[in-house]
Amino acid sequence: MYGRQDDHRDVSRNRGAGVLKRQTIDSKDYRDAMARYAGHVQIATTMHEGVRRGVTVTAACSVSDNPGTLLVCLNHSNPHNELFTESGVFALNTLMAEHKHLAVAFSGRDHLSVEERFAEGEWDTITTGAPALVGAAAVFDCRLVDAKIVATHTVLIGEVTGLRIGPAGRALLYLDRGYHSV
Ligand SMILES: Cc1cc2nc3c(=O)[nH]c(=O)nc-3n(C[C@H](O)[C@H](O)[C@H](O)COP(=O)(O)O)c2cc1C
Repeated sequence: MYGRQDDHRDVSRNRGAGVLKRQTIDSKDYRDAMARYAGHVQIATTMHEGVRRGVTVTAACSVSDNPGTLLVCLNHSNPHNELFTESGVFALNTLMAEHKHLAVAFSGRDHLSVEERFAEGEWDTITTGAPALVGAAAVFDCRLVDAKIVATHTVLIGEVTGLRIGPAGRALLYLDRGYHSV
């Protein structure tokens, strides 16, 4: 077990005294634990004034179905991610097993240019102008309705303004620091 045994947080007991004990979790331990959490791999994309950007993500999930709303967390230490808030639109492209090469390209691992990354797939647009992957399991085209900085990441909240449901098939997951399909 990680964390100090003598430092269990009891928020309710401490709240009255105005004291909130903090339990410090090492970020490497946090990442090791998160490696056990299977995440569906997606590519968040945007387009602003003719400039495209795509980022491989697993930190994305549904928020509400009425209106259709989702969130994506993007690291704000990367200045290229500012394009998402500048454009005010983004698409979440849900990957299938055969899209592993796209996940690798958009993770920056091979240091491809933006054009080279997008050339790995076929893209069109739905409503917002953000790049939508043809053949994705699903594409959620969103307008940005809120953005909140939390620690190292910006949480983008998107209202879904366009949808495309693609073929059913094997989903691309990331688990134990590797790609899998299910
Ligand atoms: C499987 C996987 C999941 C990732 N999930 C996220 C994520 O949720 N949010 C994020 O900001 N970066 C995430 N990243 C890292 C970004 O993909 C990477 O930092 C970014 O694409 C690098 O872009 P650049 O080469 O243009 O700087 C993930 C990477 C991988 C391989």
